[in-house]
Amino acid sequence: MRAAALAAIGGTQIEGELAWMSWVGTVWRLAGKSGAVYVKRAANLEGERDRLVWLHGRLPVPELVGFFHAAGDDWLMTRELKGVPLYHPSVGWPPSRVARVFGEILRSIHASDATGCPFGVARRGHVLVHGDYCLPNVLVSEGELSALVDVGAARLGDPRQDLAAGVWTLQYNFGPGHAREFLDAYGAPPMTDQEIERLRRRYGR
Ligand SMILES: Nc1ncnc2c1ncn2[C@@H]1O[C@H](COP(=O)(O)OP(=O)(O)OP(=O)(O)O)[C@@H](O)[C@H]1O
Ligand SMILES: [Mg+2]
Repeated sequence: MRAAALAAIGGTQIEGELAWMSWVGTVWRLAGKSGAVYVKRAANLEGERDRLVWLHGRLPVPELVGFFHAAGDDWLMTRELKGVPLYHPSVGWPPSRVARVFGEILRSIHASDATGCPFGVARRGHVLVHGDYCLPNVLVSEGELSALVDVGAARLGDPRQDLAAGVWTLQYNFGPGHAREFLDAYGAPPMTDQEIERLRRRYGR
């Protein structure tokens, strides 16, 4: 793994920092002379690896640099893409703007050509879904989408799954009141407050 990281980031020294910890895994950022990689450790990352490969060139997902199995876990190494996750204050936008951009980005993901996608079920009404469409998984740079990460659940599926995650994550990060801007920017049909709340509660089920 060290050799793979050095080959990707250049030089002979690795500078590492803990980037992210969640219930399912841990992510480190390893920086070298000419770049950085992210290493994600979790029980099973084969699905994410396979999706990164298929999505490459279709959506702005990170390039897969290596994949290892050690110490009972999978280790997934990706090249760093620039950008700041949408929940982060350094994005510098008010929540309403975040919500709108977040909706526009989702519309473009769902509109992308998913012909031949080997994940999920191809049927009427299904689109290419991210599968965990939360603010930390969407990076922007200079006002534009720069990276989509955490694509282990991406597949042909019901677009409402991503809409539910989007509504949930906006409320989690910014409090209630931003779902409508997100849904309008996406182009969803008008919903009552009750319908929006029902949608939000779908997340994680
Ligand atoms: N290749 C990359 N380039 C830039 N940033 C990255 C990259 N990979 C991961 N990150 C950053 O690390 C964070 C954690 O990565 P990721 O979302 O894959 O981990 P996770 O443990 O699955 O997260 P979650 O808590 O959503 O389950 C991301 O939110 C993103 O900020
Ligand atoms: Mg994530």
